[in-house]
Amino acid sequence: MVMLSGKTAVVTGGSRGIGSGIALELARAGAAVAVNYQGNAEAASRVVASIRAAGGRAIAVQADVGRPEQVARMMERVGAELGGIDIVVNNAGICPFRDVFDIDMDVWEETIRTNLTGVFVCSQAGARLMKERGAGGAIVNISTITSYRGGAEQVHYAASKGGVNALTASMANALGVYGIRVNAILCGGVVTDINRDRVPEALRTPKATTDSLPIGRLGDPEDLGKAVVFLASPQSEWITGVQLAVDGGFMVSEGKYAHRKR
Ligand SMILES: NC(=O)c1ccc[n+]([C@@H]2O[C@H](COP(=O)([O-])OP(=O)(O)OC[C@H]3O[C@@H](n4cnc5c(N)ncnc54)[C@H](O)[C@@H]3O)[C@@H](O)[C@H]2O)c1
Repeated sequence: MVMLSGKTAVVTGGSRGIGSGIALELARAGAAVAVNYQGNAEAASRVVASIRAAGGRAIAVQADVGRPEQVARMMERVGAELGGIDIVVNNAGICPFRDVFDIDMDVWEETIRTNLTGVFVCSQAGARLMKERGAGGAIVNISTITSYRGGAEQVHYAASKGGVNALTASMANALGVYGIRVNAILCGGVVTDINRDRVPEALRTPKATTDSLPIGRLGDPEDLGKAVVFLASPQSEWITGVQLAVDGGFMVSEGKYAHRKR
């Protein structure tokens, strides 16, 4: 599938977890990919190497998504080295689980800074280059089902992602005139470093089955990658401002499903 050939994508937090799955799927669809990382250059190089080994184009680019000057430098570099930016995937995020009474201002601010300010900063910087180039573009924000369902130890996290949902709608309004579409994905459960120690042992393996979802398994990074490819491609050219649940049916789940009895 080469739906995105000739396109360039930046994936924030692309060195591991869901971000690496997104980077690999975008590359499989033909895009040149800039794999953003905050601190782990080695992990980013591994993702770049596997894209190149499969015949794709990729570079690793460092930036803390919450720091505008670093992000501006990163976007300029991607534009110069890969020939413009067509797709920005705002995937970088943190989820420091805390009891509500233990969320101090440091944790609150770092969560908002990374998950919400980071999405704004990267979207603005990416959209600025897209606007100057005049070829349109697509921004995909990785939000979460928790922004609707809530989480007792995720008050700050859910609030930051609720902000991402609102930002997505307004950015879609602001940028449509430049041919830039902005959509969000409400991501469901995928076992990664962000949540592994919270997930029961039995569910920690890839494609672990669960009776609590209509599609009886947890997600994997590639499931999210495929949805990102769709929202970044001309296949979704009349879609902007939406929140697409990619969650195995969690948002509509009524409870228990006896998958193993079928
Ligand atoms: N795993 C899930 O079940 C799940 C569910 C819903 C939403 N999400 C969202 O998916 C996204 C990816 O999470 P994941 O599950 O792969 O977790 P992860 O911890 O494996 O990956 C998060 C990535 O973001 C990067 N990052 C964090 N702060 C950064 C910063 N300031 N600048 C640049 N990069 C930074 C990390 O280095 C890492 O590469 C997050 O936005 C998360 O909220 C995950």
